[in-house]
Amino acid sequence: MRIGVPKETMPGETRVGLVPETVGRLVKANNTVVVERGAGTASSFTDEMYEKAGAQLVDDAYAAELVVKVQRPTEAEIAKLRSGTVFIALLQPLVNHDLVRSLAAKGVTALSMDAIPRITRAQPMDVLSSQATVAGYKAVLLAAAALPKFFPMLTTAAGTIAPAKALVIGAGVAGLQAIATARRLGAVVEAFDTRPVVKEQVQSLGAKFLEIDLGESGAGAGGYAKELSEEAHRKEVELLAKATRENDIVITTAAIPGRKAPVLITKDMVPTMKPGSVIVDLAAETGGNCELTEAGRTVAVDGVTIIGLTNLPASMPFHASQMYSRNIASLLGLMIKKDGTFDLNLGDEVVKGTVITHGGQVVHEGAQKAMQPAGARA
Ligand code: NAI
Repeated sequence: MRIGVPKETMPGETRVGLVPETVGRLVKANNTVVVERGAGTASSFTDEMYEKAGAQLVDDAYAAELVVKVQRPTEAEIAKLRSGTVFIALLQPLVNHDLVRSLAAKGVTALSMDAIPRITRAQPMDVLSSQATVAGYKAVLLAAAALPKFFPMLTTAAGTIAPAKALVIGAGVAGLQAIATARRLGAVVEAFDTRPVVKEQVQSLGAKFLEIDLGESGAGAGGYAKELSEEAHRKEVELLAKATRENDIVITTAAIPGRKAPVLITKDMVPTMKPGSVIVDLAAETGGNCELTEAGRTVAVDGVTIIGLTNLPASMPFHASQMYSRNIASLLGLMIKKDGTFDLNLGDEVVKGTVITHGGQVVHEGAQKAMQPAGARA
């Protein structure tokens, strides 16, 4: 198999689809890997590292049989792909309908890493988890840098410094990593999630789990959350109004698959927070958990800093790329045989759930449904 790794072109994207470590493994497994010159520079992987791993450096990596990217392709990049090429990236097919149509029309077999089913067997391929791990970690570092206080308790000649208090809302992948990171920096941490099942995980990281009787569980199908009733939502906002007043840092990660992020910190709550407090809203891209979040920006409101930066994984591209690349390698393991030959393997439920276009058609059920006119959806 000839595998191509182009350089990312989306502004601000610093990650790379495959890192030298993975390239080395693929080359050993009878594949040829061609890497666009400079593809790894922004994530600290030099051309020399790729060459050492057995890659061939090229000016254009799109002529390969299989192309691996991080971000979705531009129209110009789709034009460079050949019919029958297998293309793997983060496509967000449920919202990028024109992109999906273009890939199908071009005859590309497109796989979207964000569509990998979140089942136990697919965990090594789960890029949403690997990249959320980076985001949860980075969110705490951003908060620490913006906070006019220390995180840890310090006993100094100038007296004792009290530790910072952090609240993490949503204890999924990003939230749990944020809790662990804030604890490592010495903050006193509490967390809330509408799925009571995460209580033990929160406590095992040394944080307090805020408890309240919502009158219902927020646990939905497949380990994800479901939307709360209006009454339960009101109770949660009441709980959080008190908790946000008491904490110095609030990291919000509450998400429900396919939905706008729930608003949990209202615009009236922000001015009641302590001056100098910091909110990092990881859900900024899907509307924000804080009503005053501006996606892609940091704003100050009544002395509170609200950080709504998106694509945090690109701010830590070495390890974000390494994890992404390992996720890709695990997926390729389901499709590339030992002798380097390729079998799309649609009989495997993980592959089937990830393939968006094939043979000129949109084959992914979720994407098909999302692309139907609103009235035709079941
Ligand atoms: P996840 O699905 O693993 O976790 C979300 C958590 O929120 C779940 O535990 C869920 O139960 C909880 N939740 C849902 N509704 C809630 C509510 N009303 N109150 C409290 N908790 C609630 O998702 P993951 O992977 O941890 O991602 C979290 C968020 O971070 C997502 O919005 C994701 O898009 C975003 N993200 C942002 C990045 C950035 O650069 N800003 C990068 C990666 C992820």
